[in-house]
Amino acid sequence: MTIVGLSVYLTVNFSPDQSYIFYTILALSLIYGLFFVFPIGGADMPVVISLLNSFTGVAAACGGFLYDNKVMLTGGILVGAAGTLLTVLMCRAMNRSLTNVLIGSFGGGKKGVAASGSKDQGAVKEITLSDAAVVMSYANKVMIVPGYGLAVAQAQHACHELEKLLDSKGVEVKYAIHPVAGRMPGHMNVLLAEADVPYEKLLEMEQANEEFPTTDVVLILGANDVVNPAAKSDTASPIYGMPILDVEQAKTVIVNKRSMKPGYAGIENDLFFRPKTSMLFGDAKKVLQDLATEIKSI
Ligand code: TAP
Repeated sequence: MTIVGLSVYLTVNFSPDQSYIFYTILALSLIYGLFFVFPIGGADMPVVISLLNSFTGVAAACGGFLYDNKVMLTGGILVGAAGTLLTVLMCRAMNRSLTNVLIGSFGGGKKGVAASGSKDQGAVKEITLSDAAVVMSYANKVMIVPGYGLAVAQAQHACHELEKLLDSKGVEVKYAIHPVAGRMPGHMNVLLAEADVPYEKLLEMEQANEEFPTTDVVLILGANDVVNPAAKSDTASPIYGMPILDVEQAKTVIVNKRSMKPGYAGIENDLFFRPKTSMLFGDAKKVLQDLATEIKSI
């Protein structure tokens, strides 16, 4: 309010000896900017960057309007519109409002604690590396679901090696890419492209969901929230309404992560306790390398 008030005052009563008001506005804006982004969760940063990007576009467009510069005006409008669209699309893909991203945080802001639906679900079923290797080697179709953990482990190259190995054994391998898997838009696409995974093997969520019923094995690598069935059934869940990958439609689900800790939303995942699911604990890169060694020996 102070910034707006001072700006209006300066515009109406402008005189060169009042430049100190301009510098006051500048300093207050800087402080406001810092306090605007400080409380926002690290993983929500891509949304905030995109929003700030759209603001720069709007500012440039205003500048273009003031200076009667059509190039500046057009460029500003393009940047502003693109930034706004990206922000809206990211929020929609997470089923969260922009206000929630800016002033709220998932899981009540307390990471590592189940925010909703925390109940005793019994023990999970584990699978050994050799059993997982056998199941995947004799499958017709394997769908890999990459998530944030794959990026953390930098396991994209090991993943591509495994995919090529399975391919050479006649197994059809594809990747199911959730729009908000990882921590920024296109995170998984960029990661897999870096490892030279052929683009046609990457399926968008809608395509992947159509293919799960004909998939023998789903291998989830460091993904959690994007495969959490609570998004479909638990109205109390913070991710309720977020579209997810329907991995349970496949015959077998193998989940690789290091522990039973929750993902970004801070909630437990019922999928890990379902009869079709087996857990393969360990760091994604190490597990993928060991799986490749096992498959080679079959
Ligand atoms: P998450 O739900 O965050 O789960 C990642 C999982 O990876 C964790 O459960 C973790 O379990 C595991 N992990 C971490 N390091 C690992 C390693 N070295 N090896 C194997 N596993 C490892 O990830 P997701 O399913 O990709 O979902 C993304 C989340 O980020 C969503 O909630 C989404 O809304 C949010 N988000 C995304 C974006 C964009 S644009 N992509 C922006 C903001 C927020 P352990 O610790 O047990 O290993």
